[in-house]
Amino acid sequence: MAKIPHRLYLTEEQMPSKWYNLRADMKEQPDPMLNPGTFKPTAEEDLYPVFCKKLAHQEMDAETKYVDIPEEIQDFYKMYRPSPLIRAYNLEKALGTPAKIYYKFEGNNTSGSHKLNSAVAQAYYAKEQGLTSLTTETGAGQWGTALAEACSYYNIPLTVYMVKCSYEQKPFRKSIIQTFDATIIPSPSETTNAGRKILAENPGTGGSLGCAISEAVEKAVTTEGCRYVLGSVLNQVLLHQSVIGLETKTAMEILGEYPDIIIGCAGGGSNLGGLIAPFMQDKLLGKADPRIIAVEPASCPSLTRGKYAYDFCDTGKVTPMARMYTLGSSFIPSANHAGGLRYHGMSPILSKLYHDGYMEAVAVEQTKVFEAACLFAKQETILPAPESSHAIRTAIDEALKCKETGESKTILFGLTGTGYFDMMAYNAYLEGKMTDYIPTDEDLEMGFSQLPKIPGIQE
Ligand SMILES: Cc1ncc(COP(=O)(O)O)c(C=O)c1O
Repeated sequence: MAKIPHRLYLTEEQMPSKWYNLRADMKEQPDPMLNPGTFKPTAEEDLYPVFCKKLAHQEMDAETKYVDIPEEIQDFYKMYRPSPLIRAYNLEKALGTPAKIYYKFEGNNTSGSHKLNSAVAQAYYAKEQGLTSLTTETGAGQWGTALAEACSYYNIPLTVYMVKCSYEQKPFRKSIIQTFDATIIPSPSETTNAGRKILAENPGTGGSLGCAISEAVEKAVTTEGCRYVLGSVLNQVLLHQSVIGLETKTAMEILGEYPDIIIGCAGGGSNLGGLIAPFMQDKLLGKADPRIIAVEPASCPSLTRGKYAYDFCDTGKVTPMARMYTLGSSFIPSANHAGGLRYHGMSPILSKLYHDGYMEAVAVEQTKVFEAACLFAKQETILPAPESSHAIRTAIDEALKCKETGESKTILFGLTGTGYFDMMAYNAYLEGKMTDYIPTDEDLEMGFSQLPKIPGIQE
């Protein structure tokens, strides 16, 4: 048999022309979003003031299994996709493992991550609807960059609220977002009611994704012709990100491979949801049974230590409530945690699948994550993003287990992005100054105690 190449790129013709909607194959649906005023299930029209209409439709549509990717979006994708499926030969050798390790590398675009896959879709639909501006939040900066890139392409003015501690740690993210003509504001800020309230309660806060979402939503609903765009968590974002998994599955079929274990880092769940989508379909339909592992930071452990409960998607409590694994929308992770994956909740789709036993989750400490990142960089010559390195850590751990047992499992993980803007964090690690923060049960109780009370549903 021919040797498996280091990198497999599909041809443009082999790229997917439809996204896959995992909900269509789920035996049980995630619980409906609730309107925080009435506690009634949110209707598609309720979302129109916040999201553009096509996206609101995608958010609510649990039936359409395959959604056509508009040709303009397919053309944009071709500027940076297909992304390669890479066999980590050197990493395997360095670990001395009989396991076969593959990774899907999504960092080959200016945002440095998978985020552009959804950003271009959301900007396209906003343009189609004739919207005149957009707002968003960004944690580590990849999403803000991706959306700035997409909005600049479609000529839509964009305001990005960036989590303050990341804004300060990564000054060049600001420059790149401004290169694409977007406005960037550190959050919490004095520009919105939500920001002012959070600052009054917690003046020294480094911010959180939840705070930044509140600010961006407020700006959208108070500005004519403006809508809000979110880069993770939502069903529509997982739909767009299914392009990652669809390409991966085709590439693995070409190689005659199928993963025994699929691993992805989990912030709000978009890359993981995208990568696993067609494999989870096989699992749901009883065609295959790969292990699927979500990897989260020990400092923000929504799946492993959170509660499966209705909660707000933001700190300011302006969004609809979703049932998901959450640490409570008031939970603000320690500022010493590098980069993304700082979100208090988790995609409702992934939360439901995890709750129903279709996937596993592990939490890893950041010094161990950076140890894995450095080993990976040296072996594979890609400097990984801290977020992606959570998946690398667990892939290495699983490969080392194979070394002990002698099993030659096929391990697939998502390398979601590059870490060139994360050198402060790499420096902290290399200088031995990085510490691990694990919240105590009491810390978590504070977040849980503020979960919303919903008569008859969550008392
Ligand atoms: C490189 C990278 N990977 C992963 C994530 C996590 O997001 P998600 O869970 O939505 O994929 C982020 C979020 O900022 C990111 O920038």
